[in-house]
Amino acid sequence: MAETLKYREQWSTKLGLILAMAGNAVGLGNFLRFPTQAAENGGAFMIPYMIAMLVIAIPLMWTEWAIGRYGGAKGHGTTPAIFRLLWKNPIAKYIGALGLFIPFVVLCYYIYIESWTLGYSFFSLFGMLPHPDSSLPQDQYLKPFSEFLSWYTKPSLIAYFFFLVTIAFNAYILYKGVSGGIEKFAKLAMPTLFILATILMIRVILIETPNGTAVEGLNFLWHPDFSQLLNPQVWLSAAGQVFFTLSLGFGAIITYASYIKKDDDIVASGLSAASLNEFAEVILGGSIAIPAAVAFFGVMNAQSVAESGAFNLAFVSLPAIFSNLTGGNILGFLWFFLLFFAGATSSVAISMPIVAFLQDEFKLNRKVAVTATVIFTFLVAQIPIFLPKALDEMDFWAGTFFVVLFALLEVLIFFWFFGDKKAWEEINRGGLFKVPRIYYYILKYVTPFSLFVILTAWSIEILPKVLSETTMEVWIARFVMIFILLLLFFLVYIANKRNGESA
Ligand code: TRP
Repeated sequence: MAETLKYREQWSTKLGLILAMAGNAVGLGNFLRFPTQAAENGGAFMIPYMIAMLVIAIPLMWTEWAIGRYGGAKGHGTTPAIFRLLWKNPIAKYIGALGLFIPFVVLCYYIYIESWTLGYSFFSLFGMLPHPDSSLPQDQYLKPFSEFLSWYTKPSLIAYFFFLVTIAFNAYILYKGVSGGIEKFAKLAMPTLFILATILMIRVILIETPNGTAVEGLNFLWHPDFSQLLNPQVWLSAAGQVFFTLSLGFGAIITYASYIKKDDDIVASGLSAASLNEFAEVILGGSIAIPAAVAFFGVMNAQSVAESGAFNLAFVSLPAIFSNLTGGNILGFLWFFLLFFAGATSSVAISMPIVAFLQDEFKLNRKVAVTATVIFTFLVAQIPIFLPKALDEMDFWAGTFFVVLFALLEVLIFFWFFGDKKAWEEINRGGLFKVPRIYYYILKYVTPFSLFVILTAWSIEILPKVLSETTMEVWIARFVMIFILLLLFFLVYIANKRNGESA
């Protein structure tokens, strides 16, 4: 035991920890998913969003930080071992395996999409994206851009090349370790990201065309429509978004938190990281894509752009808008490079659970653990790269459904099985201030109950549709996911045997 402790790394500064955690949370979702969700759900979206933030996201975030720091102090950075410590039931470690399955499966497609942003930043910089005549009507004007995207993601050879570069880049950061790689990168990437986003925001606010202005875009996004509040779908979307944006239910925060010193504050650091994420989401994310689309295409058309999805917004509409502005190549480059940094600080975070698991439970050294993780990621990534329907299937199970299930299980294990008093004390230990007492009740009752409701609603609403898909691509994705899950169960079983029930 004492021996294990010596080997665990730690964050070297508090600022580094907060930036790394913010990097974990700030991702493509802040700049694409949030604005499209807000546009689709009407101007009152922020009300359920903030409520979900307060009763689900913030308490869960503290829970994950606390679970991670608790495990780290005992030499474990991933949930198979940590759940076993919290709950003396043989099944706990297998539930914990979900905390490896989710980030790993998501990583295998996330990193591919991340690589598009790198590819597109080069295309923008060197003026290689289409330059249609801007007097064309909207659909014809956008067409060359959507054709370019379908050609690129087919995948083209160049897309594959950028995928290799991206995976190598991620591997390099992981090789350098927690403080020497991830923390250093976050200290560079996060300030850069905030600067790039601010430049883009200022430029976008100045856009004025005969169709509209960016300010109209902001009005459209923030004009409250209270009738929306009666629609349960809006509440579900808001809950889904706060979850996604804070990277909850992935095991990734738990692993990052396991590198915090035993008695260091998590209450204030957690809130600081979450606040940075909210700033990047609501202020920066809300002021770029949608206002630009409204200014350029007008409110009505921008709405249909938003409804055509986050990818269209990112890879079709925005490059089309930028290509029409002076300095468009540079703006396009800033936009895609911003997304690349946002993606890279997140993909290293979802890589870490597997790396940490191999290091902590199999005593592999860092380089070996990273190499194994990267090779396995590379292999599984071929599936979403070549089979787009498989990507959607993986995204539904690993990236959506299991995430909420896992979050529910982790709160139950921490607050109900480990014990509410101990859990509460664990969260507050070392805190720069104490969490308000009301959160004790929120965590014990409100959060698990809300998660249960979301899960039930989804099961009724979405599951039948997803399960009725029976194409070959979808089945391949399912088989691979089942295989990965079984493999992880097996590894967890072996690790447990090796380290003994006491570990
Ligand atoms: N929070 C990220 C975003 O807003 C996406 C994400 C969800 C994520 N879960 C994650 C990133 C886990 C890293 C780790 O885009």
